[in-house]
Amino acid sequence: MAVISTLVTSLPSLSNLVIYTFLAFGVYVILNILNQLFGPKDAKAPPVVFSWIPFMGNAIQFGINPIKFLQDCQKMYGDVFTFYMVGKKVTVLLGADGNQFVFNSKQNVSSAAEAYNDMTKYVFGREVVYDAPHSVFLEQKRFIKAGLNSDCFREHVPMIVDEVVDFFKDFKKPSGTFDAYHTFGSLIICTASRCLMGKEIRANLDKNVAQLYYDLDQGFQPINFIFPNLPLPSYRKRDAACKKMAEIYSSIIRRRREENDTSNSDLLQALIDANYKDGSDLPDHHIAGMMIAVLFGGQHTSATTSAWTLLELAARPDLIRALREEQIEKLGSLKTDLTFENVKELTLLENCVRETLRLHPPIFQMMRKVITDEGVTFEKTGHQIPKGNFLCAVPGVTQVDETYFKEPLKYNPMRWVDLDDPVHSMETGDDANVDYGFGVAGISSKSPFLPFGAGRHRCIGEQFGYLQIKTIIATMIRLFDIELEEGKGVPKSDYTSMVVVPEKPANIKYTWRE
Ligand code: HEM
Repeated sequence: MAVISTLVTSLPSLSNLVIYTFLAFGVYVILNILNQLFGPKDAKAPPVVFSWIPFMGNAIQFGINPIKFLQDCQKMYGDVFTFYMVGKKVTVLLGADGNQFVFNSKQNVSSAAEAYNDMTKYVFGREVVYDAPHSVFLEQKRFIKAGLNSDCFREHVPMIVDEVVDFFKDFKKPSGTFDAYHTFGSLIICTASRCLMGKEIRANLDKNVAQLYYDLDQGFQPINFIFPNLPLPSYRKRDAACKKMAEIYSSIIRRRREENDTSNSDLLQALIDANYKDGSDLPDHHIAGMMIAVLFGGQHTSATTSAWTLLELAARPDLIRALREEQIEKLGSLKTDLTFENVKELTLLENCVRETLRLHPPIFQMMRKVITDEGVTFEKTGHQIPKGNFLCAVPGVTQVDETYFKEPLKYNPMRWVDLDDPVHSMETGDDANVDYGFGVAGISSKSPFLPFGAGRHRCIGEQFGYLQIKTIIATMIRLFDIELEEGKGVPKSDYTSMVVVPEKPANIKYTWRE
């Protein structure tokens, strides 16, 4: 009774507390608005995007449709502006010059590791990628790139075809529908595991490994970027999965070494055979971490690109016809075995994938964190960006900017054949030939088309990515006629996961071909 009466008497003070909290928050919001409108401004700093809610800043608008949000900001503030997102200050630099500034920034000025490692170290493990000193990371990138070579690709193509045929063999006949992103997610994990992770991992995919991938993936969501470590079950499962994956890789490496099993064309073997510059072997946990990083670098990006490509093609029967004709013309027939060499010849198919990456880049923006005390100046506009700000390049905006592309929102693979198009000259600027330690970058950071990034953090999985997606699509159009569901168009983008995926429903209607 005494407890109840205490509670009852304390009710008014509780409700007062709530009222005072609301009032205090209201005052905070108003002060924040007044400060933005009338407070002192640093003339050299980039303009700051207005936001109603302190701390959260523009996180909600950015989260719903970042491309629209950034395009709207560009109209109001120009190519350079800063916005707040859950306590982080993000300075966006748009346009080809913005891309070049962010991607070419020196390692001791702005850092990808500072931007990403809080989150990635829990998923990939320690001492690899952003958790390694930068020079070591560049060595690690070199090993991965060396393991993704033409000899391996030659073996990968028939493996990918095999996986695709096997994956779809039980799909309902004569026709049916499937969800594009979900289906390619399941397929790519098979193809990537077989080609990169090794036969042992592929063999265990239906068992414990799939669950470990899942648990790691749950720790690789946008929320983990904001809150890298919380005492919640999903975080604990992520940590346990990372440890377990390292153990699994260790046992595979040990067995391969003991049995001298070197006849593998997978990336795992390339890493087992590699040595750091000082001559030391890569420790098992480095190899495991790099394998997980590669999986995460390639899995969702390739799954969503395959899904978007098939969705775009499903809306364009003329292109599917042209792709089959291309195979007949260049390979002789639709029954000729696909090989590394003949897949290279399928240029229309390549341009379809490239056009997909232009309209639907899985990673539409890339971040660095300013680490130098004096901050950094964007020479073109004279803006000074202080230490602690995130620099953000957004190829997802430049890739649909009509300054660089005619009819930018149209899916037109043929634009890549027009070599007079200004975008081609921008791809071959001077910095395309810089080698940061893992081979030449191959593309200028000033290009408006950068779905694989540029500079020292440029993707090293591009060739494998194209090969895998092309082989999958080339095989699928042999197996199926495809179309969108009655009355449906290509879906809108869903920005709520780490990569941009098609908004549901994103179904493909298929009919088996004879
Ligand atoms: C880096 C996109 C496939 C491994 C990147 C970056 C982008 C990207 C945009 C630059 C990130 C940054 O600058 O912050 C893609 C897309 C892919 C793809 C669109 C497929 C369609 C792959 C594959 C692998 C891979 C298949 C592995 C085999 C990596 C690695 C990095 C990277 C190791 C380096 C990260 C760094 O240096 O910071 N990728 N990627 N990617 N990607 Fe990919």
